[in-house]
Amino acid sequence: MFETVSVLRTAIRAARNEGRSVGFVPTMGALHEGHLSLMRRARAECDFVVVSIFVNPTQFGPGEDFARYPRDLAKDSGLIQKLGVDAIFAPSTEVLYPAGSQTYVEVPEIAARLEGAFRPGHFRGVATVCAKLFQVVQPDRAYFGMKDLQQVRVVQRMVTDLLLPVTVVPCPTVRDVDGLALSSRNGYLGAPERAAATVLSRALRACEAAFAGGELSAHALEQVLAEELGREPLARVDYAVVVDASTLDPVERVCSPAAAVLAVHIGATRLIDNALLEADCTPDTGRHSRV
Ligand code: PAF
Repeated sequence: MFETVSVLRTAIRAARNEGRSVGFVPTMGALHEGHLSLMRRARAECDFVVVSIFVNPTQFGPGEDFARYPRDLAKDSGLIQKLGVDAIFAPSTEVLYPAGSQTYVEVPEIAARLEGAFRPGHFRGVATVCAKLFQVVQPDRAYFGMKDLQQVRVVQRMVTDLLLPVTVVPCPTVRDVDGLALSSRNGYLGAPERAAATVLSRALRACEAAFAGGELSAHALEQVLAEELGREPLARVDYAVVVDASTLDPVERVCSPAAAVLAVHIGATRLIDNALLEADCTPDTGRHSRV
């Protein structure tokens, strides 16, 4: 376990000097199978794997769950070690945000919409901490779950804009058997809420089915989402929309890769999920010509 930048860097430099590639999985701990799948992928693709555990204060807004976010370093370390990860970086807040810190990374456009509209400042915190962690670890590849699609796009944009020499690797969302996307926040759900939370994946599956049946209108697909979500009394929707899968801009028709994206409160817990809608819109396909 590494807590300081200098000692971690010495270990990474030694690996680099042996010609080993470096993979990185940033986390906030409270690990679940989704995180572990990122670590397995990093382990399979890179020679030296670093996992960070840091509950980043700057990505939580006032009144959000920073104070009660689950923290169990001993349990997390045990899970990570079983996967043969080479280094765990668990810095204190003072290490990542030295006294007097005043430098932040902004990705203003992508960060402003969807999650950004409901959680102002969230992606500023995410981009800033990822920039710092990339600076410390200097990985060849960094692994992120697609459940947080907008986070992936913010980090990809930042990496491109700042010319950072790291490949962002988006990895599939891992789901429970009943479809609920794994999230550290699922632990907040009581039994009735846990059952109600499956409405997110049900809505996405209904939307995918409509899309597979030829529906390309974003408005119609959003109605499918709204109808399914409306059946669950415990659900309160922040947004349920169809957007461009790269820019997250609103779309009228699904005519390039799009995504159905959801943010829904189930009781006091706010959950997000998404499904990619991969369109084949070459002019000679029947789908393109549908109204
Ligand atoms: O997805 C997360 O767990 C966090 O947003 C991340 C990427 C570790 C940054 O704090």
